Amino acid sequence: MTGAGLDAREAALLEVAREAGEVARQAFLKPIAVKMKGKQDFITETDSAVERLIVARLKAKFPQDAFLGEEGGATGEGDALWVIDPIDGTANFANRMPHFCVSIAFMSAGELLLGAIAAPMYGELYRARAGKGAFLNDRAMRVADADIQRAIVELGWSVRRPTRSYTAMVESVLATGATSQRAGSGALGLAYVADGRTHGYCELHINSWDCLAGILLVREAGGWTNDFLSGDGLTEGNPILACAPGLKEALVAATGVGQATENLKRRMS
Ligand code: IPD
Repeated sequence: MTGAGLDAREAALLEVAREAGEVARQAFLKPIAVKMKGKQDFITETDSAVERLIVARLKAKFPQDAFLGEEGGATGEGDALWVIDPIDGTANFANRMPHFCVSIAFMSAGELLLGAIAAPMYGELYRARAGKGAFLNDRAMRVADADIQRAIVELGWSVRRPTRSYTAMVESVLATGATSQRAGSGALGLAYVADGRTHGYCELHINSWDCLAGILLVREAGGWTNDFLSGDGLTEGNPILACAPGLKEALVAATGVGQATENLKRRMS
């Protein structure tokens, strides 16, 4: 998809990301009712409400488009697909920490074309369009290449992979000379790589709604990412590694992400 169809979707994306971010911000300032979907897997009423709002707004403008959302799953068919995480960093949101965001990506014929991430408590809207660069509000973003000895790498965690594969990854990343952190939002973790605040983001399994917008931000800001969409990454998730290009070799070696699948499977078992 090119031209007018994509321009219209980009405009709608930015509008709905801002609106959804504002709804999430207002909800964050009130008492939050929290439920658990599983161990360390939070959900609030705002997750579902924000996803419904995003889908309704986009469906009204593009009735033929399909949707894949963290809460609502897959609806519709066709080449044009919106991938939505209404609140990424739900554990932070649920525990009244402001590090959360709304993340929305748009794909056509399997190609990642648009991404937006709204971090409403910080007044930040990150956006990217394939081939047209990545921006934070009105400022163009660039990844920051750094010596590995001063690099900051965020290492995402979830119960979807064994604890020992996470702790092994932390050890091998620390052994490169980089330091690690975990802030609890994969989407914002990727946005921070795009903006050169951190130098890499890695997680041994992440879902597409958490990371597609962020992947486009990193690529359009001059960074490198592994082929997250390979196999059934869109529907089942995959490992993710995103970084400044100068750190690729060291971080692929340390994490196994981006290496032959067999090596990675061994590390994750
Ligand atoms: C989670 C966050 C977290 C990441 C997990 C995700 P959610 O998404 O992005 O940082 O490590 O893999 O599941 O539940 O907050 O939308």
